[in-house]
Amino acid sequence: MPVDIQPNRVVLHHPAGASATILLYGATVISWISGSHSALASASGLAGPAPPAPTAPLGAAAQFTSSTPAAPSERLFVSALASLDGSKPVRGGIPICWPIFGPPSREEYKALKQHGFARSSVWTYAETVLDAAEGVSGRFVLESSEQTEKLFPHPFKLVYTVTLAEHQLTTSLRVYNTGTAPLAFQALLHNYFRGEAASAGVQPLKGVRFVDKVRDGARDTEAREIVDVRSYTDRVYEAAGGAYTLTFPPSAHLSIKTHNLPDVTVWNPQETGSGMADMEPGGWERYVCVEPGHVARFVSLEPGGEWWGQQNAMDRFEQLILAG
Ligand code: BG6
Repeated sequence: MPVDIQPNRVVLHHPAGASATILLYGATVISWISGSHSALASASGLAGPAPPAPTAPLGAAAQFTSSTPAAPSERLFVSALASLDGSKPVRGGIPICWPIFGPPSREEYKALKQHGFARSSVWTYAETVLDAAEGVSGRFVLESSEQTEKLFPHPFKLVYTVTLAEHQLTTSLRVYNTGTAPLAFQALLHNYFRGEAASAGVQPLKGVRFVDKVRDGARDTEAREIVDVRSYTDRVYEAAGGAYTLTFPPSAHLSIKTHNLPDVTVWNPQETGSGMADMEPGGWERYVCVEPGHVARFVSLEPGGEWWGQQNAMDRFEQLILAG
């Protein structure tokens, strides 16, 4: 069954063995299992806990070819202590931050919680958009309601489309202003990518201006070719270019391309993560958050207007093995 619609989640299945699981709570993608995999995935920390990866020495990588049998592997981190019952935002996967990112920075939004309410609202599964070898795609909707209007007095409609291909996951957020006044918002896709944080690198961010939340919002310019998260990192890079590579050496990497999401946050709490009740012990060692967003400035959408932002995450793992 390519699209498995369950009471609280939707599972997209791709014929090549990939899958994506999306909770209706927050339209949170809680699993992305990509089609490609090998012993190197296990060595690089990219492989998830299930299914088990075969083990082989790293040196064997160069011998793999495209005929290597593929086994699925998890690309997202979800804390073992995350709540998946709708009681609080999921600690992991891809929560959607909307209509704000971080704590409210505008007086008119002061009733909102950090990262807004999209990640803690129950969305509706609207339709299966595509069901083909090229991709399997499902669409989720959240509309303003009496509940949202108490906190956020702006009529809106959000449409979130998740598209799964053999080695790619594309998530696309559309915002419609269904009210009669301009609608101002920030938007961000809070990816928790699974992998060994100690060896992870994000690039290219050299020369990009950032706000350092670890240093009380100090502004600075990134000097490094490759950004690591070996110490507590919480940086919002502004107008960062929109295309990034997340590497988990020796060989695995993800490429992330975006549309209309010009900024990117890189976050890993290191030991401060132990202060989060829903963080599994040492969980921060097993992921890096690379979060494309439109956050440095608010989007201002006129009545009747439409905005969309999109990210495409591509698992380049197999390609690197072939190149190895
Ligand atoms: C990141 C922010 O995007 O999300 C961090 O930059 C924040 O400052 C982190 O701590 C997690 O936020 P939350 O609300 O999910 O605990």
